[in-house]
Amino acid sequence: MGLVNWKIKPCNFQIKSIIVIIISILLLRATLSSSPGFAWFQKSKSSYGINHLTGPDLRATVRKDKFFEVPQIVWGLNNQKIALARGLLTARFLNRTLLMPSLSATLFYKEIELLQPMQFDKIFDFEKFNSICDGFVRLGRFSELSNKTNPFVLQKGSGRKWTKERDLQQLKEIVNDKKLHDLELVRIVEKNPFLWQDHWPVRDYAEIFECLVLINEIENDVVKVISKIREASAKAKNNTNNAKYTPAMQYVAVHMRIEKDWMIHCKKWEHRTGMNQICSSKKEILDRVSHITCINPPVVVYLAIADSLLEDDSVLQGWKTGLLPYEKKRLGVWEIYKKYPYLIQSAIDFEVCSRADIFVGNSFSTFSGLVVLSRTQKLLKLGFTNLCDNHKGLDVRLSSYAYNILGDMSGSPKQWMTDMSDSSLQKISYGTNNVSCDVNMSNS
Ligand SMILES: *[C@@H]1O[C@H](CO)[C@@H](O)[C@H](O)[C@H]1NC(C)=O
Ligand SMILES: *[C@@H]1O[C@H](CO)[C@@H](O)[C@H](O)[C@H]1NC(C)=O
Ligand SMILES: *[C@@H]1O[C@H](CO)[C@@H](O)[C@H](O)[C@H]1NC(C)=O
Ligand SMILES: *[C@@H]1O[C@H](CO)[C@@H](O)[C@H](O)[C@H]1NC(C)=O
Repeated sequence: MGLVNWKIKPCNFQIKSIIVIIISILLLRATLSSSPGFAWFQKSKSSYGINHLTGPDLRATVRKDKFFEVPQIVWGLNNQKIALARGLLTARFLNRTLLMPSLSATLFYKEIELLQPMQFDKIFDFEKFNSICDGFVRLGRFSELSNKTNPFVLQKGSGRKWTKERDLQQLKEIVNDKKLHDLELVRIVEKNPFLWQDHWPVRDYAEIFECLVLINEIENDVVKVISKIREASAKAKNNTNNAKYTPAMQYVAVHMRIEKDWMIHCKKWEHRTGMNQICSSKKEILDRVSHITCINPPVVVYLAIADSLLEDDSVLQGWKTGLLPYEKKRLGVWEIYKKYPYLIQSAIDFEVCSRADIFVGNSFSTFSGLVVLSRTQKLLKLGFTNLCDNHKGLDVRLSSYAYNILGDMSGSPKQWMTDMSDSSLQKISYGTNNVSCDVNMSNS
């Protein structure tokens, strides 16, 4: 394992820098505590569930005896999480409990009949969800319904004329309708909640995503996959006899979207919108990742890729010396994934990416967008609101990059944190080429 080609750049993960980080955290906290931004951070800390065990939550809770029902939730894991959260926020608006919806285990999206339904609690912990989200939103079971015979069935409007304003007007009419107020069940039919108009800010969605905790069985498998990555990493470092070996950096995760379907889709998308930063070739991704300055080689690069690419060895080739690419098969964890349907495989990959030291993804992917949101939330809890100071020696683990956008430093990908002040989830649902290395603290 030669490192001759690798020009070792000053890395932020050496012991010296860890001290710098700790000092920085302390300084940052001290500075922030006297700024208005810190008030928001503190507020967000409590609303993110940290204080749930220590004190009563004073926020208005939703009614437990009035319910709301949405159609089966479909598409990719993260489209499904967004649809679920939108259903929950709509239920909150109507002051109702959302009946635990069916997710979809499979990914066919052309024929709805082929979608294999999966209960929410086969993947996420139902009790933990309600306990962490207590006082904000609530999920209920169908068995809680006392009378299934008489729901109010609501057809959502659609088409270009069905604007956000009209949609909100419809919801307000339901809230103000005295008869509906007392009715046990309001059911929305047909349209997938992912396609509903969005009325809620990023912070509300973020709060719900924090309540989605994997059930133990799946969490145990996440831990197994990550420990395999750590083993591969330790072995590589051992073999190099690298005196600069730092145990701090375990792995980089790259969400590589280069499968054929995506390439066709993203080319069309670029054509339609006139943007040229949506698609990245394999070569561009490898090149941008190799320019991230604080990667301390040798390091394992976990490739989160579509199954179709697992058969294609070329994804493992062409990486810069010191970047050791692994996917599920090479890592020897395919057995763990294989026993699960698509949805759970994707949920495991999501956690592996979310817990990596460095994550690199595509800012037009919902998967990457929600991984970065989860990492941004973790950084906020540590007191970090800005990654831009990287080159000044201030860096933290949990930094993220968008490989489809060129960063400020030559050849590197753009650093990426979620704009927490955004008034809707539009950018995360559909992608953006406007990513920033800090959390926008306005509107607090
Ligand atoms: C829901 O209704 C209850 C009882 O009417 C009320 O106390 C609570 O504040 C309402 N919650 C929301 C989120 O509006
Ligand atoms: C359920 O609702 C229907 C219609 O409102 C009513 O006729 C019926 O008696 C109710 N059943 C129960 C068990 O409350
Ligand atoms: C590291 O190398 C030493 C000897 O070179 C070996 O005994 C040890 O098992 C290795 N550790 C790992 C994790 O590979
Ligand atoms: C990019 O986003 C920032 C904050 O989210 C906003 O202020 C700015 O106007 C946006 N720029 C473009 C070109 O959309």
